[in-house]
Amino acid sequence: MLSILTKKYPLVRRRLISTLWRSYHATNSINDSNRKLKGYEFYEKVLGSPKYILAPMVEQSELAWRLLCRRYGVQLCYTPMFHARLFTDPGCGEKYRFEQWSTSLMDRPLIVQFCANDVDHFLKAAKMVENQCDAIDLNLGCPQAIAKKGHYGSYLQDDWDLINKLISTADKELNIPITAKIRVFKDVSKTIDYAKMIIKSGAQLLTVHGRCREQKGHHTGLADWSIIKAVRDAIPDTPIIANGNILYHEDIQRCLDATGADGVMSAEGALFNPAIFQKERNMPPLAYEIALEYLNICKSVQPTTRAEVVRAHLFRLLHASLKQNENLRPLLDGCNSLDMMEQIVCELKIRMERERLQCTELPVKGDIHQIRDYAPWRCQPRFRPKLSVDHEELRNKERRQKALAALAALKAEREHLDVNKSRQAARP
Ligand SMILES: Cc1cc2nc3c(=O)[nH]c(=O)nc-3n(C[C@H](O)[C@H](O)[C@H](O)COP(=O)(O)O)c2cc1C
Repeated sequence: MLSILTKKYPLVRRRLISTLWRSYHATNSINDSNRKLKGYEFYEKVLGSPKYILAPMVEQSELAWRLLCRRYGVQLCYTPMFHARLFTDPGCGEKYRFEQWSTSLMDRPLIVQFCANDVDHFLKAAKMVENQCDAIDLNLGCPQAIAKKGHYGSYLQDDWDLINKLISTADKELNIPITAKIRVFKDVSKTIDYAKMIIKSGAQLLTVHGRCREQKGHHTGLADWSIIKAVRDAIPDTPIIANGNILYHEDIQRCLDATGADGVMSAEGALFNPAIFQKERNMPPLAYEIALEYLNICKSVQPTTRAEVVRAHLFRLLHASLKQNENLRPLLDGCNSLDMMEQIVCELKIRMERERLQCTELPVKGDIHQIRDYAPWRCQPRFRPKLSVDHEELRNKERRQKALAALAALKAEREHLDVNKSRQAARP
């Protein structure tokens, strides 16, 4: 009866799982003394001193992807950023949580990330998940226009009082530690003051993305590891995670050496190659095999991963092989079920294996600072082309021109109506 009920009503099923989960963790509390661990004690005893960390990624660091990356060496995962107000909204909150948030027993250690600019929303959202994760992270790095409009992410960089309130309240009220992920300022000493303020407010771990707020889209450029090192040196008692510029496995150790950070976080690098953290490889995995493994995990988790999330992963994973098989691209784009996606990946596998058989694949060595030339069936990073024109500027210009044209059309219509009116009025 219960199984029929829960099959028919996924929300009921979810609530049931969530209740069981909470009671499981309540009885398996991480530290027996009931003391909230801080700084390095938290990093070592609760998180297990992770060096390889999967970044928070909206619509991309979902449960199935986290489970896949954990199989390939990731030691700590972040959830995607959740919007604290939407997460707790009395109207749409339940639907939002159902679509965005899920975890499982295998999904630890785990940090849940929120964006927020209101202490009550932040605390309420964090309280809802504190028994299902190891820490709560405050997103202070999102540079998108939507974050500017909503006043969150990197746009809180200008509001230190608010950051202090959010973090200190969470530090006081939550049963688990609070952490933060920041972007740097151009000015090193301002970045250090900023990081110190965040730690003083109560954050127990800091992720430093070595790019400024302005470095986004086609202006992304390189992360500055020297600023991360400066923060590391200025805050020796807090675990620091470095983020930015990880394209290949070898970059991880280079980053640890250059920054002195405790761990390295990867977002895009891990999206293009989920095995980026795995040491004992001399070749990245076969992209279609990883894609099939990921699809299997997607089928096994509850609730099933949303099609648009899965599609986005597949396009990234398979980008090099799809370049040679352009006719499969629209087919994949049109898929809305996991089975359909699996069929496309299997077709790609057949084609790529045929090609593989006809060539001898040599391990790619060469200068570690160079872009590697892997065969298209291998997981590999994608590079943004350098643009000769500023596309954002161009888009804004086009938008402005369209708005002006619409205004002109409206004006012309009004004038036409006015002329007609005055003609009618002038009639005897
Ligand atoms: C698809 C995508 C989604 C992202 N979403 C988030 C997010 O939810 N929260 C966050 O703090 N950063 C987010 N980021 C930024 C990454 O966590 C990371 O800071 C940034 O991509 C730099 O790391 P990388 O050079 O390894 O890509 C996202 C990045 C990508 C590519």
